[in-house]
Amino acid sequence: MLASVVQLPLPQGPLCDRFILAQYALEDLVRDIKAYLGESGGIDSADVDEAHIISLARKYISNPNDWLRYFYNDPSKNYTRNAIENINRKANILLLVWNPGKGSPIHDHANAHCIMKVLAGELTETVYYPPQDGDNTPLEVKQQTRHQANAVTYISDDIGLHRVHNPSSNQVAVSLHIYTPPNAADHGYHIFDGATGKSSFVCQARAHASPEKPAGQA
Ligand SMILES: [Fe+2]
Repeated sequence: MLASVVQLPLPQGPLCDRFILAQYALEDLVRDIKAYLGESGGIDSADVDEAHIISLARKYISNPNDWLRYFYNDPSKNYTRNAIENINRKANILLLVWNPGKGSPIHDHANAHCIMKVLAGELTETVYYPPQDGDNTPLEVKQQTRHQANAVTYISDDIGLHRVHNPSSNQVAVSLHIYTPPNAADHGYHIFDGATGKSSFVCQARAHASPEKPAGQA
């Protein structure tokens, strides 16, 4: 399965190896997010400038050497959530692996910021207008975008709901997700029926832990 993931047109050769080593690495990104969110206790969405975290995510260029150690794919699931970093009460940073043709339900983000960066393959994001209270009508699509490797996208409940899926028939896709604050992990979130707009509350499942990192609440 690993071989099918590494699709990025990374440059080869000794010069390029040195070039890659000099790049802003995933661990640099995680360090900078932790530094930005600070050391103190809790945080609220309003305390976070999402544009800053988006700019950090854009600065990172996907390199499988950084993230393959977090990679685990359960072929029986639509997608597998792997823990990269749990910044207690500040953020969750996850690596998601999407099986071919599979995707998430339509969901909200529990009043948090969600920054997603495609690391390998391609993902389609469908954004929906939030349902009106008491409405029993199909959710209306606001926008649909295909995100290629290294694309960064952002969503919050102010923007709407979304569904993410892997449009490939034979390749997995990999993405990096930054949730701040980690409200969905700590308190749950909602999924929605696209035909009726009806919501259901979901308690977040634990993320798969790498051998190096405990999953914590992710
Ligand atoms: Fe999402």
